[in-house]
Amino acid sequence: MPQNKAWTLASYPAGWVGEGNFRLVASAAPLPAEGEVLVKNLWLSLDPYMRGRISTAKSYVKGVAIGEVMVGQTVGEVVESRHPNLKPGDKVLTQLGWQLYGVTKEFTKIEERGVPLSYYLGILGMPGLTAYFGLKEIGQPKAGETVVVSAASGAVGSVVGQLAKIKGCRAVGIAGGAAKCEYAVKELGFDACVDYKAGRLNDDLKAAVPNGIDCYFENVGGEILDAVLRRTNAFSRIAVCGLISQYNATEPYGVKTFQAILTNRIKVQGFIVSDRLNLWPQALKDLADWVASGKLKYRETVAQGLETAPKAFIGLLKGQNFGKQLVKLI
Ligand SMILES: NC(=O)c1ccc[n+]([C@@H]2O[C@H](COP(=O)([O-])OP(=O)(O)OC[C@H]3O[C@@H](n4cnc5c(N)ncnc54)[C@H](OP(=O)(O)O)[C@@H]3O)[C@@H](O)[C@H]2O)c1
Repeated sequence: MPQNKAWTLASYPAGWVGEGNFRLVASAAPLPAEGEVLVKNLWLSLDPYMRGRISTAKSYVKGVAIGEVMVGQTVGEVVESRHPNLKPGDKVLTQLGWQLYGVTKEFTKIEERGVPLSYYLGILGMPGLTAYFGLKEIGQPKAGETVVVSAASGAVGSVVGQLAKIKGCRAVGIAGGAAKCEYAVKELGFDACVDYKAGRLNDDLKAAVPNGIDCYFENVGGEILDAVLRRTNAFSRIAVCGLISQYNATEPYGVKTFQAILTNRIKVQGFIVSDRLNLWPQALKDLADWVASGKLKYRETVAQGLETAPKAFIGLLKGQNFGKQLVKLI
């Protein structure tokens, strides 16, 4: 029986997450019951939503209890199967969390498309669908409009800007640092990208959106939202996907430009990707075609080994990732 290792939640963080909030536990890998499979996890996805799962604040889904394995999506290989549709060696997408092995009866079998398996946790997975659904259904951009996205070099934001270009829009990113902005423009094809860490957010954003903003894909919140609201056009749309600048804040940021929502008759809607899993087959087909044709580009930051997961997760919350953050487990 293989040896399992798992990161469990040791304590709820107050403010910033620390490595001490997690505990590494070793045990024998579990045995699959009838209808289950034993999976060896190969890749672990680290995502900002995990911060909400280790909080005692009320959320849209149940959080992780003290002593439980940290939640997370994984891509793995079936080691032993007691499920009629899977055999050893099959690759599956599961929610087995921050651990090397796990048993489950809930999985999506991966139909390999000649892309790396890690893509099913990123551009061909939950973040890709988030960008696709949020932009198409809520942002509703039309050709010629200006679309702005924050956290623009990240897993979701990088796809949003590229989809906006495919739609025929002006795509403007907001990201932290010159390297991330250069990547958004030179590699991903954004029309412009504002480095919010350069200290000229309002002026630089004004220059980047000469025709104002018709659609904003919100990943960050805080001061960036204020700067964007100042430049919005009448009847613009805001798809509220995430507010990462607030996830570790002990005092919430008070938005100063809320009045623009009234003055500009802005439609603001939050969304959670799991609400629209029905879009998944079409989204996966479109995203996979665009990846295959080179229209969608993608970048990953890979941490090596399960032991690095807490450090890499904290790095993600601090903006140290560049593209989709993953942990390579094997
Ligand atoms: N609604 C949904 O269903 C759903 C699904 C997936 C993701 N999301 C949300 O989408 C957003 C992006 O997620 P992702 O997976 O694509 O992560 P990501 O962009 O790959 O990584 C997070 C990025 O957020 C930026 N960031 C962190 N702290 C910030 C701050 N204080 N101010 C401004 N930017 C900050 C950093 O980029 P910079 O270096 O550029 O600052 C960091 O690299 C998150 O808010 C997440 O919660 C929502």
